[in-house]
Amino acid sequence: MKNNHFFDRDIVTIKDFSRADLEFVFDATDKVSSLKPKERGQLASARTLGYIFYEPSTRTRMSFEAAMASIGGSSLGIFDPRYSSIEKGETLYDTIRTMDLYSDILVLRHQMDGSSRYAAEISTHPVLNGGSGSEEHPTQAMLDLYTMKKEKKNIDGLKICILGDLKYGRTVYSLLYGLVHYNVEIYLVSPPSLRIRQESIYGLTEKLKISELTELDDELLSKIDVLYVTRIQRERFPDIQEYEKVKGAYIIDSNVLNRLKSDTSIMHPMPRIDEISKNIDLTKNAIYFKQVAYGKELRAALLALVLNESGL
Ligand code: NCD
Repeated sequence: MKNNHFFDRDIVTIKDFSRADLEFVFDATDKVSSLKPKERGQLASARTLGYIFYEPSTRTRMSFEAAMASIGGSSLGIFDPRYSSIEKGETLYDTIRTMDLYSDILVLRHQMDGSSRYAAEISTHPVLNGGSGSEEHPTQAMLDLYTMKKEKKNIDGLKICILGDLKYGRTVYSLLYGLVHYNVEIYLVSPPSLRIRQESIYGLTEKLKISELTELDDELLSKIDVLYVTRIQRERFPDIQEYEKVKGAYIIDSNVLNRLKSDTSIMHPMPRIDEISKNIDLTKNAIYFKQVAYGKELRAALLALVLNESGL
């Protein structure tokens, strides 16, 4: 692949990437998925991914590790700060500098907005943002967009409802910043106290058709193509009593499913707590586990592009 704009780049915010860049990653993902294991296993041979997770993670860390293994590289890192020198008071600066000496590419998840940008300034190797506070989660958005493209054929023309915790959910912001390149209609549904942060979508409202709602009414449910459900981010509430007021605000169950178009796809960045009933999992509408699987493929492609100038 020519013109690999991803080589040696930090992936701190999805705002750095154009529609052409995103489509380039999607094509690379298709390519990596089609390779035979042996060929695929040469893309990152003898390269090392270093990860530092200050916050819990299941899919982001494991999919990066699985992706790196599938392209022939290895991974090492910190996934529980309690068992690292962070517990002794070591700074983020020193932790990043150390990881930079042991690896060719870094993934950071941290509770602070701006943490990945800071890490990218310290590290000599590329830094991939695996989640920074309630600010961004760019590789999640890339895999969300890839999932939409694969499952709906075209992102252009989609009517997308994003539901749940729009105030603290970082995946929502990265997704909106990515969707700005497409011709879509967005319906943002949340409790009034968890509305999207207006200052974080400043400038987006001119480019995206956005409506804000508080209810999943029939008119909305009968027209949307994608229902992107998010978890209420309990750990980010300054006051747990405020969380108690909104927990369980929306539950996607068979009652909601029956009001959707027959081909509406239900997505979720995961983890799902109680916002999607388990009996939805086996319906054809539920694509959140496919999304999990696409995450490994997209991250494998992204790692290969950042590590190799010649791309895939
Ligand atoms: C998300 C995150 O960490 O922001 N998880 C993920 O990486 N898919 C979503 C969440 O925690 O709710």
